Amino acid sequence: MKVMASAPGKVTLFGEHAVVYGHPALVVAIEKRVKAIAESRNDDVIKISARDLRVPGIVISYIGNEVVLETDYGMVLPAIAYINKAIELTAKELGVKRGVNVEIKSEMPVGAGLGTSAAVAVSTIASYAAVNGYSLSREEIARLGWEVEKEVQGIASPMDTSITSLGGYLKIKYGSNSVERIQLKVEGELPLIIGYVEREAKTKDMVAMVRERMQKYPEIYEGIMKMIGHVVERAEASLLRGELKELGFLMNINHSLLDALGVSTRRLNELVHVARDSGAYGAKLTGAGGGGCVIALVPEKGEIVETAMKLHGSMVLRTKLGADGVKVEEVDGKRLD
Ligand code: MEV
Repeated sequence: MKVMASAPGKVTLFGEHAVVYGHPALVVAIEKRVKAIAESRNDDVIKISARDLRVPGIVISYIGNEVVLETDYGMVLPAIAYINKAIELTAKELGVKRGVNVEIKSEMPVGAGLGTSAAVAVSTIASYAAVNGYSLSREEIARLGWEVEKEVQGIASPMDTSITSLGGYLKIKYGSNSVERIQLKVEGELPLIIGYVEREAKTKDMVAMVRERMQKYPEIYEGIMKMIGHVVERAEASLLRGELKELGFLMNINHSLLDALGVSTRRLNELVHVARDSGAYGAKLTGAGGGGCVIALVPEKGEIVETAMKLHGSMVLRTKLGADGVKVEEVDGKRLD
């Protein structure tokens, strides 16, 4: 049996990093998907192939026991760790021991801050469960996906795994015992441009760096996180009312607060300013930072902003927002919809 499941990438509109400390965040699924194709085997071998993650510009670093494989589009080996852990935890949850061939195809650069790791984990969980005859709910997949992220990354909020599982627009907040996920009804298309610059640090390292500083300067860092939480609440109201100028203004504040946390870079700051100077209502980094993506909210089609961002050396991605969550799309070559 052969099953293909897919899960969307995401952009965090507001609240990354602060969400790890119990503040709310706003996040949207994008129509760029990761596909996991699982084929059952009659033994217990797990074979993973991710051919289209093979990209130019490879740098291999040996750091202690860790081998870090970087490419022009981000890091490859960490993506494999998510697949392996997703199979392990799903097999344990379902009590199955069968091996599998898993092939991953991604429409997004790996490690760019678009939630590829979560989409890899979640699409793998859905396809592995289905190929073993189980149909998990999106909530169950989100929970398992979060376990995978926590095990691979050390620290992770349920944000990325929730949005790639459920899709749409989400407001998310979590505490010690609960995850609150509210689907937001956003009218029309948000005119958003995504720009990508080379990633200099992994999500895991950025999150760990923020944690260290939080412990060292709690009175300052807790204040910044709380402030981000206030920005998110205001942004939710503006988003639901379709007030783009106000949303842009709040994006600018959110970016400055992320910069204050120390997760922005010179190139991200430059790209944010290029977008604003060429007419964007607002722009901010999105995701964990340390390079990666910037989102710019633009008037109408935003061609001038897009050209300016490209001239600045960034790759630009235009995609539909509010994409559907994880789904099994094909069984033995037959489409299900
Ligand atoms: C990474 O996409 C978002 C962070 O807030 C980390 C997390 O929520 O786990 C930086």
